[in-house]
Amino acid sequence: MAQKLFAANWKMHQAPADAAAFMRTFTDQYARQQDRRVLFFPSAVALHVVVQAIRERADLEAGVQNIHWEDKGAFTGETSGPLARAAGARHVLVGHSERRHVFGETDAETAKKVVAAFRSGLTPTLCVGEKLEEREAGETLTVVTRQLRAGFQGIEPEKLATAIVAYEPVWAIGTGKTATPQDAGVVHVAIRAELRAMMGERGGAVPILYGGSVNRSNVDALLAADEVDGVLVGGASLDAEQWLAIVRSA
Ligand code: PGA
Repeated sequence: MAQKLFAANWKMHQAPADAAAFMRTFTDQYARQQDRRVLFFPSAVALHVVVQAIRERADLEAGVQNIHWEDKGAFTGETSGPLARAAGARHVLVGHSERRHVFGETDAETAKKVVAAFRSGLTPTLCVGEKLEEREAGETLTVVTRQLRAGFQGIEPEKLATAIVAYEPVWAIGTGKTATPQDAGVVHVAIRAELRAMMGERGGAVPILYGGSVNRSNVDALLAADEVDGVLVGGASLDAEQWLAIVRSA
């Protein structure tokens, strides 16, 4: 059975001391379950704390929320793949909607970050998703497919098969609105078809996460939707009790 993935995106929250307290509560109360993996995306300043907290737990993994596409250089304020990897990250979010729509990250920049992630030994989670006006114009699948093709452009199928995809409708992120399991399923099925077109049978094994206002009340229904292999959770991952409830679901 494929493992389910539960990924916490802490965004610009949880100082190192908060992250340490959270991880103590979490690791005390969450015992390894063979059928799932739990990923944490803390802010870069709290990465070290999370890495230390999970060092004896193969079922728990950590990553960064963003990297620059260059490995080193004069890029004040940026973190590179090699720096993140050396600090203990094994994963990176690429093309999160806040990177795309708050910071203006383009499809081309997203593609360069996917290349940089693989080069540094980080597993990229490529985030895709449509804005409300795009959904209302019936362009959801066009936008998601474009972001997927652009983000993964030029990567060999063997590498791509180790990536993760997250479908996060922009209108559902941090708004309390979620896609219905049916609506999410339609997009996940389309993403699965596109992944198979890109890399053949291997595309069947790439986890596709759903994200956007996931919480303990809606997680079961979303995980039951077609081709939903896990969830990427922002707000509801900040409280240890709620996150414990989410990772124990389904
Ligand atoms: P949210 O964020 O769960 O707070 O909507 C999800 C995300 O942005 O990854």
